[in-house]
Amino acid sequence: MSRNPDLRHDFLWGASTSPHQIEGNNLNSDWWRTEHQNEGRLEPSGDACDSYHRYGEDMRLLADAGLNAYRFGIEWARVEPEPGEFSRAELAHYRRMIDTARGLGLEPVVTLHHFTGPRWFADEGGWASPTAVDRFTAYVERVCGILHDVTWVCTINEPNILAMMSGMAAAMAQGVDLNLGADVRMPTPDQDIGETLVRAHRAAVGVVRERTSAKVGWTVAQQSLVPAPGSEKIYADLRWAWEDLYHHGARGDDFLGVQSYTSQTVDENGIVPVPQSPDNTQTGWAYRPDALGIALRHAWEATEGIPLLVTENGIATSDDTRRIAYTAEALRHLYGAVAEGIDVRGYLHWSALDNFEWGNWAPTFGLIAVDRETFGRTPKPSLSWLGGVARNGGILEARA
Ligand code: BGC
Repeated sequence: MSRNPDLRHDFLWGASTSPHQIEGNNLNSDWWRTEHQNEGRLEPSGDACDSYHRYGEDMRLLADAGLNAYRFGIEWARVEPEPGEFSRAELAHYRRMIDTARGLGLEPVVTLHHFTGPRWFADEGGWASPTAVDRFTAYVERVCGILHDVTWVCTINEPNILAMMSGMAAAMAQGVDLNLGADVRMPTPDQDIGETLVRAHRAAVGVVRERTSAKVGWTVAQQSLVPAPGSEKIYADLRWAWEDLYHHGARGDDFLGVQSYTSQTVDENGIVPVPQSPDNTQTGWAYRPDALGIALRHAWEATEGIPLLVTENGIATSDDTRRIAYTAEALRHLYGAVAEGIDVRGYLHWSALDNFEWGNWAPTFGLIAVDRETFGRTPKPSLSWLGGVARNGGILEARA
């Protein structure tokens, strides 16, 4: 059978999700509260895709299409509803998810924190609290009880975006209108929070290594910044604040999760806003499938060559043909990086399902559409296309 000879035989082909965006009724989480405190500005997650109950169906669709991996998360707010009080039933629920994935031939890639936390953690001050690292470590210790045979564990999803969101939350609490919605202005990630997240990650890596045999890492939102001539100094400063703090924090890990969607230029005034264009995606981002190649090369260099796993890459579009075109082009850039000797272990598409895009249901990133009234799932052509690529060892002309 033909296959891309540059890819490893155990290359992971899959799709990614996060708990709050698909499970529904994450009542005890800080995000649920934020949604309801900002009614009119943020849409609520509500029942989301009801994947808390329908995860088996979701996983089966991925496996039947030909994928061999599924990235999903464990929701801290469910597992530890009150400080120090752990739910055996919720841990058993996530253990069933791991077993279901394995039973279907999907390698589980498990995320321990994907933007959301328990309300009580937020009330303590969240990631700004002096107790944050200890609180997170205690949760990770407990979760390790269900991870003994899991191979891939991501500690914290996009710590750089989490550090940025913490700054936004603080600004919103002070009444600053960040114009959430179509045109969000992104503040630079908060450096103190970022350093706390690095410490939390290092502690979690230690715990996971001690208690499981998993490969452990975290996932960074790659900015794929490109300097305009003469802007090298500001570019270097912004690159540190936006991503390299987190790449340095990953050195020595078993892998880095690379999450890439777009690329932006840096000029003497900073990150250049994306001009309006009919080519922009539903999230207002520039259509840049080449960003994945930039991201892989930069992540490889900045982490001093730890293995890379693409844990998110995708496009918000209502046109599934465009999703296939974007993904095919992004994969060509991934193959280019692999051909140069960069160690890439897999490609997990964002996202398995059309889901809750953090206060907004309009952007559709999914390989599978979800009817939000009946929760019926409708796989899109992109799912069978990506499954066909997986079955054919990465050959892009393949059709399922
Ligand atoms: C996050 C996802 C999000 C996606 C698209 C990443 O920032 O990890 O939760 O839905 O990108 O915006």
